[in-house]
Amino acid sequence: MKKLILHTLKEKQGYVSGEELSNSLGVSRTAVWKHINELRKEGYIIESSSKKGYRLTGLPDILDGREVSVPDGQQIGRELVHFADIDSTNNYAKKIGNDGCPHGTVVTAERQTLGRGRVGRLWQSDNSRGLWFSIVLRPDLEPEKVQIITLAASVAVVEGIIEVLDINCGIKWPNDIILGSCKLGGILTELSAEPGHVNYVVVGIGLNINQDSGDFDQELQDKAASLKLFTGKTHSRAKILSGILKSFEKIYTMLLAGETRQIIDKWNKYSVTVGKEVRIISREVEYIGTAQSVALDGKLVVKCKDGTLREVSSGEVQVRGLMGYARD
Ligand code: BTN
Repeated sequence: MKKLILHTLKEKQGYVSGEELSNSLGVSRTAVWKHINELRKEGYIIESSSKKGYRLTGLPDILDGREVSVPDGQQIGRELVHFADIDSTNNYAKKIGNDGCPHGTVVTAERQTLGRGRVGRLWQSDNSRGLWFSIVLRPDLEPEKVQIITLAASVAVVEGIIEVLDINCGIKWPNDIILGSCKLGGILTELSAEPGHVNYVVVGIGLNINQDSGDFDQELQDKAASLKLFTGKTHSRAKILSGILKSFEKIYTMLLAGETRQIIDKWNKYSVTVGKEVRIISREVEYIGTAQSVALDGKLVVKCKDGTLREVSSGEVQVRGLMGYARD
């Protein structure tokens, strides 16, 4: 019922009388009033006038299915599971992935108590100022080809932000989202597979939206960016999420159509790694070179100082001038 009242208020874009709501929905005016008050508690701003009725004038920035919308027919985000608090949206996405949830299911949370980053790091996501979400995909791909999904996801994030806010971000290999010279977001892709077959892929995305610098832990303060710090104003997380899900659908369709080259071309267009001096730190070695390109399988091709080419598939890549890796 509450959902229907909200729907009617959104449709009308003006006053709707209590009588009209109670007649059209078949409930008493007291019931209408109770639901209106519940919506107000959830952050909806609803004005009331004894003569004219109720009018919706403000929406809360909640990442649930009422404020995050996807176009009809879109698969990514058609099913949305929202939590106020959870350990990690990736953990929950893996659980429902194992239980057989539909392709494209999205898990969002206002806060994570144990947000996880790449290479075993923690991801600070203990407040509702950022976007923390995971997408469950069921691609018909060989497990070795899944790396392309991670690259495609970073392109989707950058294009979603351009579409909604007209702000240009960059991508640091493989999928850090960079704004200015700091990190705006990151992507943690996890795979469940058996030989030759992918069961599901979870793409977990964390994006800093409305944080002030004091919201970041001390050691992140000179490395982390937020859209608010960059633009000086707050942004609707729900709108940005809707935009990213739309661009994700678009790029995933390209991926299924075998348009890998086009996806890599887009990745290169937004790359802040290619052409730069990079320091590669892996379990076995550490060396400096120049990033040349990204191969079709997603590996970073680096030209070492002695002229040899190496392909990087894992480990950490630091880019000169970004996130604390400065000239010596
Ligand atoms: C990185 O280290 O750059 C990747 C960070 C990924 C964080 C996101 S937030 C939503 C999802 N849930 C997690 O626990 N991690 C990812």
